[in-house]
Amino acid sequence: MKIAVIGAGYVGLVTAACFSEFGYKVVCIDSDKNKIKNLKKNIIPIYEPGLFDLVKKNTNSKYLEFTTDLKSINDTNIIFIAVGTPTTRRGDGEADLKYVFQVCNDISFNLNKKNNQLIVTKSTVPIGTGALIIKKLKNKRKDLVYGEDYHVVSNPEFLREGSAIEDFLRPDRVVCGVSNEYSKNIMSKLYRPLNLREAPILFTDIESAELIKYASNSFLAMKISFINEMADLCEKVGGNVQQVAKGMGLDNRIGPKFLHPGPGFGGSCFPKDTRALNASFKKNGIKSTLIKSVIEFNENRKINMVNKVKRLLDYRLKGKTIAFLGVTFKPNTDDIRESSSLVIIPALVKAGAILKVHDPAYTKYFNHFKEFKEVKWNRSVFNAIKDSDLVIIHTEWNEYRALDLKKTKKILKHPNILDLRNIFNKSEMIKLGFNYKSIGNKE
Ligand code: UGA
Repeated sequence: MKIAVIGAGYVGLVTAACFSEFGYKVVCIDSDKNKIKNLKKNIIPIYEPGLFDLVKKNTNSKYLEFTTDLKSINDTNIIFIAVGTPTTRRGDGEADLKYVFQVCNDISFNLNKKNNQLIVTKSTVPIGTGALIIKKLKNKRKDLVYGEDYHVVSNPEFLREGSAIEDFLRPDRVVCGVSNEYSKNIMSKLYRPLNLREAPILFTDIESAELIKYASNSFLAMKISFINEMADLCEKVGGNVQQVAKGMGLDNRIGPKFLHPGPGFGGSCFPKDTRALNASFKKNGIKSTLIKSVIEFNENRKINMVNKVKRLLDYRLKGKTIAFLGVTFKPNTDDIRESSSLVIIPALVKAGAILKVHDPAYTKYFNHFKEFKEVKWNRSVFNAIKDSDLVIIHTEWNEYRALDLKKTKKILKHPNILDLRNIFNKSEMIKLGFNYKSIGNKE
């Protein structure tokens, strides 16, 4: 079985590397010449634990190759589309399918009837996209018969940045939306290496598979927003949101995961996918109050975090120095896309503060804050903390969990800590002499 993966972005690269690890021949194709040139030299454009080793091992053994040449799909059996589906710039929240359709157009000329190829969407695409792809391909290739000469499948990915390899190799489930038995058989064969790990493979129709992806991400986003809203109530009335989350999570029907309060969800998926799901409702004339309120709540949450800082500093931010620890949307990634830090940092600057920023992974994106002369980058966490009036923990990197708190207290100008991820224990922090505020604890 030979596989083509089109798109050497986050999803495409992980997919290509992991399938080659299963022992399939994989060709990963991207139109970005520079990216492919680098990948051939094992230079990986993203920070993902374990990915470098996997790419290196499988390119050395020739199970994995990189190219810009789309013609190389010709001798493959399965063609994965793994290009981006960002939010359109129109402001309607819809997912932009131009890259997906461009790929469909390009591959249509190189389909190989003899190989009975499967065209599989890995990209996150709204319900109904598979049907549109089939329609487009039928139009382009009138000489081929859909369902006989080629097939379309939806196989959404559920990888998390920072643990993508592990998620691929040990998934909770694999979802395949198929339109015929042939596609089902090929997809079963493809994922057979996961049988040993007893990963359930769910076969559905194409539309259901497409919606499972959006519904899953939006449900998790809703779960996070729910606990964040409970945190707001605890802060006013009392109670401890972590205990609340624990008590809820012990109910098997709810489960403990994704109940960690924080500054609002970010990243390249939840914000984009909740918007796109909301847009699907709107487009089809169905009112969705639930998804819409999750989006609004999460946007407001970032501003509420700024208000929290203002309260802590008695609304006197002018000239105050703040150590801002962690800018990525979560730990173990260098990704800053839709991170709440992108809202909080500029708002604090606007209020007159000086920010000393540190992040263990974030380097290349620092130009996001270049326009602010009040935002200074620090290579060492203690440089950022030294002489600051307040420390904000924005991302729960392990480096911050293990912070030398006695030293921190000593070098701070004022012992204020605002822990937006609840990584420290409140009573211990108070014992150490900090003015410690966290999420979901009465202020
Ligand atoms: C998410 C999903 O978890 C993956 O299953 C999915 O495949 C992926 O999107 C995608 O669609 O490609 P990811 O964006 O990498 O993965 O990150 P998560 O670990 O889900 O975290 C997302 C955001 O929620 C982060 O900002 C994180 O800090 C926040 N979060 C997460 C919380 O605030 N609380 C939690 O309990 C969990």
